Amino acid sequence: MSLLVTGGAGFIGANFVRRRRHTQPREKLVVLDALTYAGNLASLDGVDGFSFVKGDITDGALVEATLRDHGVEAVIHFAAESHVDRSILGPGAFVRTNVVGTATLLEKARAAGVKRFLHVSTDEVYGDLGSDDPAFTEQTPIAPRSPYSASKAGSDHLVRAWFETYKFPTLTTRCSNNYGPYQFPEKLIPLMILNAMSDVPLPVYGDGLNVRDWIHVEDHCAAIERVLDAGKEGEVYNVGGRSEKPNIEIIKAILKALGKSESLIRYVADRPGHDRRYAVDDGKIERELGWTRSRQFDEGLASTIEWYRANEPWWQAIKSGDYMTWYERNYGGRGAAKGATS
Ligand code: NAD
Ligand code: TYD
Repeated sequence: MSLLVTGGAGFIGANFVRRRRHTQPREKLVVLDALTYAGNLASLDGVDGFSFVKGDITDGALVEATLRDHGVEAVIHFAAESHVDRSILGPGAFVRTNVVGTATLLEKARAAGVKRFLHVSTDEVYGDLGSDDPAFTEQTPIAPRSPYSASKAGSDHLVRAWFETYKFPTLTTRCSNNYGPYQFPEKLIPLMILNAMSDVPLPVYGDGLNVRDWIHVEDHCAAIERVLDAGKEGEVYNVGGRSEKPNIEIIKAILKALGKSESLIRYVADRPGHDRRYAVDDGKIERELGWTRSRQFDEGLASTIEWYRANEPWWQAIKSGDYMTWYERNYGGRGAAKGATS
């Protein structure tokens, strides 16, 4: 099979590509990524045997050529603008990539006769929960509250429409908050680890009591693989970590693990429209596909902290901005328009 992974140079995409090279070493793997600020080819260092195309999912001609030239049969769609704070400051890029980009990809993949299209979405499309509300199920109404989650909800609706209208074979996963290696340090866990390591204050939004359900990225990638292999066309599968934590508890755990003082904590102005709580009921994927998570949060957080400690060159390059010229330094001028192959 030939598998196209969009957004494969981002956090979850890179972890997925690493896993997939291992689980399906003979499969033809193609990564399509625009290398925005969040895309980093250094996250794929040491991974062999995949083709890389630098390109934007809103570029219909490029998407069409990529699908055709590589004989793509299945797509896993990770590419997105993914950070809520950035979506508040500049929603346009979110609408462009997450909505227009997903529509472009769906239409080109349908025309190319792609046999399986897995759309990677988020629990944030369901909106937020009060402290006593039951967890989100796949039947929970879509009620996004940030420009990020609204644009992801838009893409989910498009995916559903392509299945219902054209019988295009789609699958959707909606996962909770991921953490683990290669996460860009604008998200809570890597930001707090790097700030604590450098004795820089840790900004806590609001009262620090907002709750997220945390899953190790390797468990999410295993769930995606399971849905790709065995999921039922047209279905949505929630994926969670069964690990609800208030932000402040995680921040204190990071400080403790690094031997740093809680005096580094700074309560700052709250995020506008800050979702209070997410919680995911993922009984469906367990019952129907036999997936379950294997990583405990405490152990996963400890190993993630160790990963950032051991991989300083990876995050120092981000801090200095060097990672943004990695592509030019390694590939020169080759293929920026039509796609390069590594
Ligand atoms: P990320 O921001 O780390 O990576 C996104 C990748 O997409 C980057 O490599 C970027 O260069 C690429 N990209 C962005 N715009 C593009 C465009 N127009 N064309 C081509 N490539 C483009 O994101 P992530 O955290 O790895 O998330 C991946 C997917 O998983 C997203 O769809 C996100 O909504 C979803 N998701 C994330 C989480 C989480 O906790 N991070 C949880 C659930 C679902
Ligand atoms: P984030 O990692 O941005 O993920 P999301 O907003 O998609 O859930 O944030 C996780 C939680 O951490 C969220 O409640 C906002 C909070 N947060 C902070 O308190 N301080 C920060 O500097 C960041 C980035 C997030």
